[in-house]
Parts: sequence; C-alpha cells; structure tokens
Amino acid sequence: MAKAKKRAAFFCSECGFESPKWLGQCPACHKWDTFTEAPTTKYAQATNWGVSAVHSAPTTLNEIQADEEERTVTGIGELDRVLGGGIVTGSLILTGGDPGIGKSTLLLQMCRLLSGNGHKILYVSGEESAKQIKMRAERLGDFCDNLYILCETNLGMISDIVTDMRPEIVIIDSIQTMYSEEAGQSPGSAGQVREATGRLMRLAKSLPVSIFIVGHVTKEGIVAGPRLLEHMVDTVLYFEGEGGASYRFLRSVKNRFGPADEIGVFEMREDGLKEVLNPSGYMLQGKPENEPGSVVICSIEGTRPILAEVQALVCQTNFNMPRRTAAGTDYNRVNLLMAVVEKRLGIRLGGYDAYINVAGGMRINEPALDLGIVAAILSSYKNQALDSKTVCFGEVGLVGEVRAVSRAEQRVMEAAKLGFGHCIMPKANFQKINVNETALNGMRLAGVSSIYELLEVI
Ligand code: TYD
Ligand code: MG
Repeated sequence: MAKAKKRAAFFCSECGFESPKWLGQCPACHKWDTFTEAPTTKYAQATNWGVSAVHSAPTTLNEIQADEEERTVTGIGELDRVLGGGIVTGSLILTGGDPGIGKSTLLLQMCRLLSGNGHKILYVSGEESAKQIKMRAERLGDFCDNLYILCETNLGMISDIVTDMRPEIVIIDSIQTMYSEEAGQSPGSAGQVREATGRLMRLAKSLPVSIFIVGHVTKEGIVAGPRLLEHMVDTVLYFEGEGGASYRFLRSVKNRFGPADEIGVFEMREDGLKEVLNPSGYMLQGKPENEPGSVVICSIEGTRPILAEVQALVCQTNFNMPRRTAAGTDYNRVNLLMAVVEKRLGIRLGGYDAYINVAGGMRINEPALDLGIVAAILSSYKNQALDSKTVCFGEVGLVGEVRAVSRAEQRVMEAAKLGFGHCIMPKANFQKINVNETALNGMRLAGVSSIYELLEVI
C-alpha cells in the first residue's frame, strides 16, 4: 500500500476546529489551550465520505432517485425512537457518554435482540476480554450464534475481518482504544481518534455496514473525545445520567437520518437496561408533597412532553459571595433568572445562597423551564409550598415577562394525563390553547404574562 502523505494540522479537542498552526484560544468555541497536533492522513482528510468520484457530473435535483433509507429495527423501542426509527444501513453512529454509564451494556443488549432476529453482528472490544464480555452477557440473558466477539484494537485487521465476514452491524468499543498505523500516534490521541473514525466511515459506506462507535467523554477537556468526531459521523447519541441514580437518558444530538434532540429513557437494573415507558411518572417518583421549593414543570424533550421536578433551596448565606449551584440545568440561566427576580420583584437575593436541581438526573435546557425555576426560587424564599398538583411552564424574559413556548397543548395534555389539577402557563399560550375539555380531566388552566402575576397565582 502506498504510504499516506502526512501533513500536520492542529485540532481543537473541544469542537474539532482545524487550524494549520497552534492557537492558544479556539476561534470557534473560545476555549483555551485545547489545540493538539495531529497528522491529517488519507482517511482523516477525506471529507466526501461515501461519495464516489463517479458522481462528479452535475445532475438536477429531480433526476436524483432517493428512496427511503433501509432501516433495521433494533427492538429496543427507546433506542429506535432516538435513532429515528431504526439503524440506517451503512450509517456511522457515535455513542458517547461518561465511563460506566452503560454504553457497552446498551449496545450488547441491542446485539442480543438483533442477533436473535437473524442479523449477523460483530462486536469488537478493545476494552474488555472475551471472558469479561461473556460475564456481562450472562447478566443480560441468552444469546444466539449470530453474534461474534472480537477482541482487537488494530483497525487494519478489524477492517479486513469486517470485509471478509460481511456482518450487518459492527460495534467498536471504544474508539479511544483503537489504533491505525497510518496516524502514527498513541491510541486515544486526537490524531488516532480522527483517523480511526475516518477509516470506519469509509468502511461503513463502502460495504455497506452500520457501525456503532463507543466514545468515552472525560470530565475535563474531553481530550480526543467524541466532540472531535461529531462532524464526521452520521448520528451522535449521548448517554447521560446521574452517578447514583439508576435513570439513564439517551439523547440524539445530531442525526442525519432522523430527529435530533430526541431522548430515550432507561433504567439500569441488575439484568441490564430496561426501557421506561412512562418517563413523566418515573421522573416524579419520590417527589415530596407540599414542600417549599419543589415545583413540577413540563419540558418537551424531542417529540415527547416530560414532567419533571425542579427543586430550589434558597437560604441566608454565611459568605461574602453567596453560593449558587445548578444541577441538571444551565448555571448561567439560573443566575440570570435570579437577577430578574431581584430586579423585577424587588426581592433582595444578594444575601442568599441558592441551589437549584432538576431531580432525576435528566438535563433540561429548554426555556420553558424558566417559569418553574422562578416559582421554585420564590416558593423556597417565602417558605411557602405550591399546591403539589400544580404544573408550570413558560419562558421568562429579562424584564420579567412570561413568553409563549411551543407545543403548549402537548404539555397540558401530559399534565392532565398524570392527574394534575392546575397548570400555569404563559398568557399568550393560554389565550390560544385548544384542548378537549374531557381530556383535561378537571384541570384548571391559568395564564400569566409576567412574574408578578405568577406571584399572585401561586
Ligand atoms: P457499562 O456498560 O460497562 O458502561 P460503559 O460501557 O458506558 O463504560 O456499564 C457498567 C455499569 O453498569 C457498571 O457500573 C455495572 C452496571 N451494570 C448494571 O447495573 N446492570 C447490568 O446488568 C450490567 C451489565 C451493568
Ligand atoms: Mg464500556
């Protein structure tokens, strides 16, 4: 094989930005000290993945035949939903997440179902021995003979085996352990990870075979992690959850073949991951009744409304600088909302610590969460509980106005379905809402146009 021409470039390990020279700060994501050098070799350079040179003559859009992609349904409903209806043949799917969150478990469960349905699957592990995989598999149930395990980290060899064996689906666990001789760096480095991914993309498109890549996210820096690869692959799924809790959320942050931002909800049990079919009910388990600082909100995650509990603890501070924390949502957003409350309602929060938490381990960044955060802060500050059958949603603007959010009907119906009695929403949504009275199940609706009105309603 001709030796690949090596040309070095520098990449931001946070966002993958490429630069011909080293930079202290990334111009794209503005993070400092994230640039690492990596040779761009033939696979990493090729960006026209799967587009062969034969197609280089221009054609009109009407001449192009585009059939629906061929999909393989995995049988794990929550995973199929996140993928947009199954695995598209020839796609490259990155599954990222913290170490130990359950990526290997989820993929092995998927392999178990698919191989049971007659699909030929190759699971390549660079992290665990065959015996360790077997031990994990025993917790998940019986496996049939269509699933092959390969413990190997050399991509050249893996590529040859896949080409010979022609499996329908390949799992690469994990990309950080794989190495390609062409990149000439140690496994896990930015150059190797990019090179390996480029090579797998070629393989996926040329055979075609669907490939799942596992990528660990490290807390600091995400060095050579999945971030670097997001632009290269077809689909990016992130598996997230709180260390202690058993909930796991699978989120699609990019999907060339389906909706992005869709989520799937799982519970980690002794015998593997189980789908959670009623996420709202699940998220509200253990919610305290009539406690100050606890508010139920409704967020749209992907195509589904999900209820969750927001908790706030506002108490007098013992420090010069009050402490503020936000778990499960954006810290800066929480600070901003506290400033709005302080300025617009004249409540002096400067002498108070505030801790905000979205219970259950799910991360919610939707603006509709704002009203819930404000209500929770006010409830904790005044030490007055909201009626525990109240749900609220709405975006809060800088002058304290409550702004309309999308898909209000869906949110209202979800709250009614779970037996809530009172729903506080933006006035603009309230005026236009069109829901069936019987489906409301006696739930009262209230529209507020500003956070003063919120104060009156609660
Ligand atoms: P794993 O899939 O190995 O995580 P990752 O591949 O993302 O690093 O998950 C490992 C964790 O899951 C480990 O702490 C054990 C736990 N686990 C269960 O609770 N139940 C199970 O059935 C299995 C297989 C693992
Ligand atoms: Mg693993």
